[in-house]
Amino acid sequence: SLEGFTHYMEKEIYEQPSAVSNTIQALSGFAPEAYGFNAPDFFKKLNRILIIACGTSYYSGLVAKYWIEKIAKVHCNVEIASEYRYRESVPDPQCLVVAISQSGETADTLAALQHAKNQGMEMSLAICNVATSSLVKETEAHFITKAGTEIGVASTKAFTTQLIALYGLAVCIADIKNRLEQSKDYILDRLSEIPSLLKEVLSHRGAIEEWAQDFSNALNSIYLGRGQLYPVALEGALKLKEISYIHAEGYPSGELKHGPLALVDKMLPVLVIAPSNSLIEKVKSNIQEVKARKGRLYVLTNDESILESSTKNFHVIQLPKTHEDLESLVYTVPLQLLAYITATIKGTDVDKPRNLAKSVTVE
Ligand code: F6R
Repeated sequence: SLEGFTHYMEKEIYEQPSAVSNTIQALSGFAPEAYGFNAPDFFKKLNRILIIACGTSYYSGLVAKYWIEKIAKVHCNVEIASEYRYRESVPDPQCLVVAISQSGETADTLAALQHAKNQGMEMSLAICNVATSSLVKETEAHFITKAGTEIGVASTKAFTTQLIALYGLAVCIADIKNRLEQSKDYILDRLSEIPSLLKEVLSHRGAIEEWAQDFSNALNSIYLGRGQLYPVALEGALKLKEISYIHAEGYPSGELKHGPLALVDKMLPVLVIAPSNSLIEKVKSNIQEVKARKGRLYVLTNDESILESSTKNFHVIQLPKTHEDLESLVYTVPLQLLAYITATIKGTDVDKPRNLAKSVTVE
């Protein structure tokens, strides 16, 4: 039931603090057993990770690459399942194949997994929201995200819980390989703050409603982010496209000058994900590039100097501070809300957007 919400998507956005909290619990303090690997030997011998997924699940994989390489110091490739399955790639039997899927029934993801197995890559892990799914049956090990049933076609709580599962995987591998720079308890405490931060983000709905009014009149938009916030920009743009039918393009901020800057004029909303982290100075200069061309800026930040410089065409929402590694979780939620509210203003069928299915079981 909708429990007072207007749409399932809205309900599922608001369920994220508890879905994320339940998924953090399921990490069991970063124990390999949480992923179904009883022998730590398994993680000791792996030297590479290949992530395969589609759509939103692919974007959680892109965030995971930042974590797996930074925290576990293991090479990580992320591939779109429909590309990987038909591509001649170089197999590596020491590689762990991680298939990410909300439904566990996505045809391309299942086929990509089979393709990897046919090439001799036997070690496989599913990050999946449905315990009884084909994907879980076909993988050696699995972690079930605790999002609960997701009904809205546009994925929300499945994404943030996948992020938790993948962050946990990076920490778990780093621990087994003796590469952790802090204690597991410390890392867990920091991670455990995320549910309350997500609640705080959800309380900014009023400001996001103002942005949504502007977005609902746009035909196009650009979303920018750097580092792990680049895939968050991709995911935010996908949400807007799917349910509001407004074209949105996610871009790594540093690529702005290499093409999309040509699109910027006073009509174009440019959304920038700009937390005060090690890349903030770079992002500030990207903001200036847009400002100089009179683009309409919408900035999510916790940086004081950006907050102070907001003007009529430079809209800013202040988000809570968190550790740099966990920013993807905090900055995803306002983008989901923005897409959701924009779509409701446009009056689209939010839970069942045109031409889309919840689970893509055919190619
Ligand atoms: C986006 C969306 C799709 C799915 C994709 C993969 O909101 O819902 O892009 O993420 O079809 O689905 P799963 O995760 O079930 O494999």
